[in-house]
Amino acid sequence: MRPIVSVRDLWKIYRKETRKSGLRYAIKSLFKPQYSEIEALKGISFEVYEGEMVGFVGPNGAGKTTTMKIISGVIYPSSGTVEVLGYVPTERKPEFLKNIALFMGQKGFLSIVIWDLPPVDGFELICHIYGIPHDEYRKRLDFFVDLLDLKGLIETPLRKLSLGERTKVELAAALLHFPKLVILDEPTIGLDIVSQAKLRDFLKEYNKTTNATIILTSHYIRDVEDLARRLIVIHHGEIIFDGPQGKIIDRMSKTRTIRIHLNPSGASPKFDTLGKIIETDSESVTIEVERERVRDVARVILNFDAVLDIAIQEPPLEDVLRTMFTREEHFHE
Ligand SMILES: Nc1ncnc2c1ncn2[C@@H]1O[C@H](COP(=O)(O)OP(=O)(O)O)[C@@H](O)[C@H]1O
Ligand SMILES: [Mg+2]
Repeated sequence: MRPIVSVRDLWKIYRKETRKSGLRYAIKSLFKPQYSEIEALKGISFEVYEGEMVGFVGPNGAGKTTTMKIISGVIYPSSGTVEVLGYVPTERKPEFLKNIALFMGQKGFLSIVIWDLPPVDGFELICHIYGIPHDEYRKRLDFFVDLLDLKGLIETPLRKLSLGERTKVELAAALLHFPKLVILDEPTIGLDIVSQAKLRDFLKEYNKTTNATIILTSHYIRDVEDLARRLIVIHHGEIIFDGPQGKIIDRMSKTRTIRIHLNPSGASPKFDTLGKIIETDSESVTIEVERERVRDVARVILNFDAVLDIAIQEPPLEDVLRTMFTREEHFHE
């Protein structure tokens, strides 16, 4: 199967004029501007296939937005090749544009074009632009109103809507043409927890019903944790992990914790020879053990009379990623 997105050895170097403040430097830089170079992407490669939902995660400044803009054809790469839906994005052919959407938060088409008007007016404009037939438009509108809970919002002037409401109508506007590839750059930024969860539910449902390919970025792992099975982790312009999210934990964290429930009336056995004690009280002890020793240690623990049961736990993905971003090791799938 041919990938929907194929990125090979992509580099992006931004040139930024560096100018000290003050008139003397302003005049000097007119004649001899000084530049500094920022290597935003350092040779990244990946592929995305039809119907996939991929989480693109990394801390601020990692290169997420740059990558999404290059895939959408908004900016040129410095070198490397990009093919999206069989097209070169920067050529911005009509067939390409008809099949992609780049969503960058609440400041979308509607906010720019119809700020004082209700969203429906903007939706109708979009239908004209993309040539969506009227009955098809009605169907899609019902679909979005239902899934995004837009009742009452689409007739209200945009400027009267809250940030969360605006994000939802902008999302509907961005997807009204049912693109095959949806790129969402930090879609939940600024939203409260409830709106974030709703947006996630919507994306899941949208992916299921339309089989659209979805790439979404976030600097916040929770956004993608229950959404995307596959994660691409980017750090300092390099991909440091690409694979199923379950494997990040496997690969990155060398330890597991074992929580041991004790019979409070019995004498507590000694656990400090089995692992590092993390927490202890009268009814339970939590120890940390190297992954390879978990089976053996668990067997020993279960043989103690005072032990009622045990729970073996992986560290949370959030902690694992934090470790990845502070250590500079590379892990490729
Ligand atoms: N237009 C630009 N000019 C100069 N530097 C830029 C520009 N856009 C982004 N950068 C720099 O490139 C790096 C990657 O930025 P970006 O792709 O926005 O990261 P992210 O979206 O992961 O936060 C950062 O160091 C950022 O400061
Ligand atoms: Mg960004």
